[in-house]
Amino acid sequence: MSILKVAHMGHPVLRARATAVGPADIKSPRIQQLIDDMFATMREYNGVGLAAPQVHAGLRLFVAGFAPRPGDEDEDEETRVPLMTLINPEITPVGKTVDEDWEGCLSIPEIRGRVPRASETDVKAYDRRGRPISIHARGFTARVIQHETDHLDGVLFLDRMTSLATLTYIEEFNRYWGSRNVPEE
Ligand code: NI
Repeated sequence: MSILKVAHMGHPVLRARATAVGPADIKSPRIQQLIDDMFATMREYNGVGLAAPQVHAGLRLFVAGFAPRPGDEDEDEETRVPLMTLINPEITPVGKTVDEDWEGCLSIPEIRGRVPRASETDVKAYDRRGRPISIHARGFTARVIQHETDHLDGVLFLDRMTSLATLTYIEEFNRYWGSRNVPEE
């Protein structure tokens, strides 16, 4: 497995619409290797999600989640994100409830901001074995899925903020906005 270079804001790959993966290609060594490398890269940089365009691959797929660790059962269920690989995801918000909360992005390092997102969403996608799957996500998992799917359309979390007034560097975030860990994605 390789740690891949992460594209930072300003790189055109982050603003392009990514191409769907042919379902027959999902099991190819090229795509499987990319998925393995994306998990390794996400873990290396302590991310909670990583979309293919962030590693210069213009494909509609992302990885997300935290590997379960001892003690995780104490974590708030709302903040736990199961490990997932979603390919060609299509998301449909459920209901009209929108939550605003902090986000960070591996492509916009050291910055946090408050972003409104649908609190619940349905997702249809393929998993890494090429099987069609349906997910109902809420809370932080729903937020991460929306953030990563945006990357596949060239959208960054800054575009989703209704005001830039909460944009903050991580040092000031820790100093003024509480010590909660807001992982990049
Ligand atoms: Ni991101």
